[in-house]
Amino acid sequence: MSVKLLPQSSFLSCISRTPSRRWHSSKFFDPYKSIQSTSSPLPEWKLGDGASKGLSEHGNSPRKTWILDEMSTKDSYKLLTSAIIPRPIAFISTIAEDGTPNLAPFSYFSMISHNPPLLSVSFNLSPRRPKDTRENILATKEFTVNIISEHFIEAANATAVEAPADVDEWIISGLTMEPSSQVKPACVKESLFSMECQLHFSHDILDLKTSDVTNSLVLGLIKQVHVKESVLAENGLVLDPAKLRPVARLGGNTYARLTDTFDVPRPAWEKIRDAVKGSGEKFR
Ligand SMILES: Cc1cc2nc3c(=O)[nH]c(=O)nc-3n(C[C@H](O)[C@H](O)[C@H](O)COP(=O)(O)O)c2cc1C
Repeated sequence: MSVKLLPQSSFLSCISRTPSRRWHSSKFFDPYKSIQSTSSPLPEWKLGDGASKGLSEHGNSPRKTWILDEMSTKDSYKLLTSAIIPRPIAFISTIAEDGTPNLAPFSYFSMISHNPPLLSVSFNLSPRRPKDTRENILATKEFTVNIISEHFIEAANATAVEAPADVDEWIISGLTMEPSSQVKPACVKESLFSMECQLHFSHDILDLKTSDVTNSLVLGLIKQVHVKESVLAENGLVLDPAKLRPVARLGGNTYARLTDTFDVPRPAWEKIRDAVKGSGEKFR
């Protein structure tokens, strides 16, 4: 690993930062403001009621249609990543075959199964540069996925820098390695929830016209998880989102935080069956 750190002043000037923290302004993050539990938009909603009338200003807007085949990949990337939101972010730690540690965020990320416990991550590849994380996972078959909370989003974001493979993004971020138990790559100590994963499956995705590899899908088998006890809900079994304060990705450089949550009970078929069967067109 051969990386030299810039003097702090020039390093910091490379990364956009708020000039000063002004807690009184709503434009700045207030770490003491808790996440509210609110009511759903229309708690009085009944079977067949449809969308909440009066709660959307888009009713009369015409629809614009794009045929994806006819769009540039740059435009479709911008469009889709601004629409398929909010995306959770996998903060992935890997180790290259030569031992260089690597850390980077990926928001083409989801949980796809709990039995077996599997998550998916997808890497966009450019002919310019492979993704080191993908290379390392395919070579070593091991990685950790760490959930990003608000208290280290700037540090996590800095690791997305397109640096050469011999650069250790841990140093750039200032984050701390926490040794893993079942895999070699470390977990991120600052992360409140970390998963140790083994490569379960990988599949290259090809450009439909040129057959160039444009993306790689990786499924990770979650072997072990670590959670800070302070994030657990009262039952000790699940995480409290208000304590986790997870960060999601929207389009471009925009992130989102959870500001409030609401519950909507799922209808039980036994309770609504008679009403639905006897309804005919009644609900319309
Ligand atoms: C929040 C965020 C999410 C990202 N999501 C992805 C993604 O899903 N897939 C991808 O290929 N690159 C994604 N990137 C870009 C990678 O993080 C970036 O290319 C990074 O340099 C890859 O590092 P590596 O080459 O060390 O693996 C994302 C960047 C950010 C800031």
